[in-house]
Amino acid sequence: LRILVLHGPNLNLLGTREQGIYGSVALDAIDGDIVKLAEELSVEVDIRQSNHEGELVSWIQEARSGCHGVIINPAAYTHTSVAIRDALSAVSLPTIEVHLSNIHQREDFRHQSYVAGVALGQISGLGPAGYLLALRGLHGHLTARPP
Ligand code: DQA
Repeated sequence: LRILVLHGPNLNLLGTREQGIYGSVALDAIDGDIVKLAEELSVEVDIRQSNHEGELVSWIQEARSGCHGVIINPAAYTHTSVAIRDALSAVSLPTIEVHLSNIHQREDFRHQSYVAGVALGQISGLGPAGYLLALRGLHGHLTARPP
């Protein structure tokens, strides 16, 4: 199994960015933990970060060949991007949306997610652990035997 893990804009600044909201763990450390769990689960992960909406769209499109699921923290694009939602819809791979902070507790403009409507599920507010829970959840989903 191969899973695409996408981090959206400004997540490259994790660890220094608004630590009160996003914590002090850097993106490299989060990615390291994802890789470790992936090895335990015998899953391949392709982890990428971009500050550009179109680049994220292209990577989602490319996932059609070779990837079985997507974990995405679309960051600010969560609340603005019909293009990312449409790309996820188009490839129709099971997708889990992750947010470090609890977006439902924050400003009103963060309450809406364009991605949630096409995602298998959303994990919001659990910090970096959210990515690991998403990986376990997606792995379970992809390996479940049909009833
Ligand atoms: C975020 C929440 C978004 O509202 C924000 O724009 C981000 C990060 C999170 O992980 O909590 O950049 O996706």
